[in-house]
Amino acid sequence: MDVISVIRTKRDKGELSPEQIDWVIDAYTRGEVADEQMSALAMAILLNGMNRDEIARWTAAMIASGERMDFSSLSRPTADKHSTGGVGDKITLPLAPLVAACGAAVPQLSGRGLGHTGGTLDKLESIPGWRALLSNEEMLHVLDTTGAVICAAGDGLAPADKKLYALRDVTGTVEAIPLIASSIMSKKIAEGTGSLVLDVKVGTGAFMKNIEDARELASTMVALGTDSGVKTVALLTDMSTPLGLTAGNALEVRESVEVLAGGGPADVVELTIALAREMLDAAGVKDADPAKALADGSAMDVWRRMIAAQGGDPDATLPVAREQHVVTAPSSGVLTRLDAYDIGIAAWRLGAGRARKEDPVQAGAGVELHAKPGDTVTAGQPLLTLHTDTPEKFDYALKSLEGAWDIAAAGTAFTPNPIVLD
Ligand code: URA
Repeated sequence: MDVISVIRTKRDKGELSPEQIDWVIDAYTRGEVADEQMSALAMAILLNGMNRDEIARWTAAMIASGERMDFSSLSRPTADKHSTGGVGDKITLPLAPLVAACGAAVPQLSGRGLGHTGGTLDKLESIPGWRALLSNEEMLHVLDTTGAVICAAGDGLAPADKKLYALRDVTGTVEAIPLIASSIMSKKIAEGTGSLVLDVKVGTGAFMKNIEDARELASTMVALGTDSGVKTVALLTDMSTPLGLTAGNALEVRESVEVLAGGGPADVVELTIALAREMLDAAGVKDADPAKALADGSAMDVWRRMIAAQGGDPDATLPVAREQHVVTAPSSGVLTRLDAYDIGIAAWRLGAGRARKEDPVQAGAGVELHAKPGDTVTAGQPLLTLHTDTPEKFDYALKSLEGAWDIAAAGTAFTPNPIVLD
């Protein structure tokens, strides 16, 4: 087999054979296929697509490139959630302990932020002492003793995806449904969860900008999971506006703790409970009430134990950025749009995100929202507060906010998008 013939097959809109797929993934993982050859193939896939058989084989080959985890020794059914990524998407933080409090075990392998979307591990690392890197044994121990674990995927899990995802990131080949679906599902199937709920985001702040693409991505991933014996369901959820009132690492941890304490913004609470219901249903846990577990403190108890089991201090003061800048509403009326992508870029420019994988992030940086679409605002009132340790970044962040909102005349009827679209 040679890589040029594999690239030519896809370049010429052909179907890759199972043998070609197995060979190219294995050879790339072992370093026999060069990055420039794999990026040519990834671009050909982005432009010409793959059919469901090719995607299934590609996913299986990425799973086979590494180890598979096994949670069959646990006494509880396992349920995991994956979000395709968005702005202010802190849902994993309250959700994992909530679902554990309701009776399922939650092995949550999470990622770091890249570009305008935040990463769960970056958020949790703003808690002093908390560790994202656990051995497989430590992960199993935290899961067994607290009911939930949120950590980084080990190097042994789908190594082909690790290499390919980093390559796609720098070659403009992230936004391909076959590559996104196989990337996400190879890790989730190799992780060994019994059930999986996918939160497929739609809108300006998401990979998928329209509902048709999101539906295609969701159904591709659900089919991959189901065919591998993982009970998989998907929700399509809105990402045209940031979730909650914060985008940034420590800011989002603070908001998540508010939700675990029975408060927090209504959209974060609604989506957390909707996803928890789906996860418990998929895991076969009956008669659990996630709303009650948030209100009675049992989810908060699991959160505290889970953070402490990974070296974190749940009572520690969270970092606060050194400088703040308040952005005010330019006119009075009804806020009808607050763009998730623009807010995400601003948070990233303030230091909450990274441009390259190895960049550090600022724990306290980000954007705080004082109004959401549907709210009435008055000229001069605070609309956003920008937080950073590096105030020279304010101007750069403010540029990304030009045109980030619309304010309609007072009294204009306006209904915000529902959180769960389908
Ligand atoms: N998240 C992943 O893990 N892979 C992708 O390709 C996109 C988002």
